[in-house]
Amino acid sequence: MKDILGYLKSHEQEFMSELFDYLRIPSISATDANKSDINKAAVFTEKLLKKAGLKNVRQYKTKGNPLVYGEWLGAKGKPTVLIYGHYDVQPPDPLDLWKTAPFEPTIRNGKLFARGAADDKGQVFLHFKAIEAWLKTRKELPLNVKVIVEGEEEIGSPSLGAFIRQQKKLLKCDAILISDTNMEGTNIPSICYSLRGLTYLEMKVTSTKGDLHSGMFGGAVANPIQVLSEILVACKDPKTGKVKIPGFYKDVLPLTKRERANLARVPHDEKKFLRDIGARKAFGEKGYTTLERIGARPTFEVNGIWGGFTGEGVKTVLPAHASAKVSMRLVANQDPNKIARLFMNYVKKIAPDTVKLEVKMYENNGDPALTPLDFPGMKAAANAIRKTFGKDPVFTREGGSIPIVADFQKHLKAYSVLMGFGLPDDNLHAPNEKMNISQIKKGMATIAYFLDDYAQMSASG
Ligand code: BES
Ligand code: MN
Ligand code: MN
Repeated sequence: MKDILGYLKSHEQEFMSELFDYLRIPSISATDANKSDINKAAVFTEKLLKKAGLKNVRQYKTKGNPLVYGEWLGAKGKPTVLIYGHYDVQPPDPLDLWKTAPFEPTIRNGKLFARGAADDKGQVFLHFKAIEAWLKTRKELPLNVKVIVEGEEEIGSPSLGAFIRQQKKLLKCDAILISDTNMEGTNIPSICYSLRGLTYLEMKVTSTKGDLHSGMFGGAVANPIQVLSEILVACKDPKTGKVKIPGFYKDVLPLTKRERANLARVPHDEKKFLRDIGARKAFGEKGYTTLERIGARPTFEVNGIWGGFTGEGVKTVLPAHASAKVSMRLVANQDPNKIARLFMNYVKKIAPDTVKLEVKMYENNGDPALTPLDFPGMKAAANAIRKTFGKDPVFTREGGSIPIVADFQKHLKAYSVLMGFGLPDDNLHAPNEKMNISQIKKGMATIAYFLDDYAQMSASG
């Protein structure tokens, strides 16, 4: 591997300047205003795949943002790895909290700051370079590789889901490799084997046809903010942290003894964890540790709530309506559509007849995902990590979601190896997102090793 690692090392400067250009493109998928930037990022991705030496590099147009594909299928009889990532990013606001502009990549203290530095342009880029290093030095890869990069992950991958169903042959593979998750720490290499799913809804409570004088009408009709709050309180027990929607836990795959012992071995500094986020105390479902609550248990969260008067001073008003956005993070084997229905039925049942309740479901749904720990790809990833980090990885369950992972599993019948190089303090979706340069370097090398290790481990074709 000396030659490949040598290539990575001697091209560091060039890689950085390419990554900077990639990060300069504000490829935000949430807003229509950035459509041309989305296209720029797709073209740039195409260019990087071509430079890496992949074949049949092209864009696939969809109803939404384009998919970028490339392949190298010259290893007859060897397994095929599908590499997935996303070139879209979250909006950068609030802008005033960024130390340097989100789309002007800047290095400070060995960290690369930019929107997308870790989620996910900076991470998917590592794969392009690992492939490039192999193909430029050896003229071949040790196995077959397919690469698919999408531009809609941050909005729930609406186009890629359909694409997978139509293009099973194109995407056929033995394993999927993804770098879009975190490690526990620079010195705690880890591989993620489980992601949570998601279902997202909005509620609106209306009590009257317009705002009213709270002296003339207060006490005579229901207050919609009060009613909305009561509904929310009825969704999660304030003492036990248990979700109270009937049937919510029915399909939850319980943690096995072995898994709990495994998770207990993951180094986790609870005090530091709380200090870093500025929390006074931990709160969550009774009977579970923080890591179990995040990775292996479902939860109900209010994401936003609005209504009534919030301006300066006082206004004695009885608001006409109140709204809340809520979402539930789900675990194997919960079904997001089923959970959404349980929620709707429950809130409709408990809402008093003094108000009108409307519930709307968002499309940004996602199934949870779980990769068996004995999957050969996991072993290859552990070997690769040992070589670059000098240490055995721990196996973790992450609380975030990459909804497409479950689709890959369902339609391609292949498991994903979530070998991410981000860190818990990377500020994903927040101001000052960053990726440590040391993680970038180790990440590229680890992926280069993985391709070799997985080729040797699994002999299907
Ligand atoms: N890369 C993240 C998911 C992630 C981050 C998983 C850290 C584990 C650790 C991904 O880009 C993301 O933000 N997903 C969204 C999905 C949603 C928009 C459907 C999420 O988890 O909120
Ligand atoms: Mn991501
Ligand atoms: Mn994200």
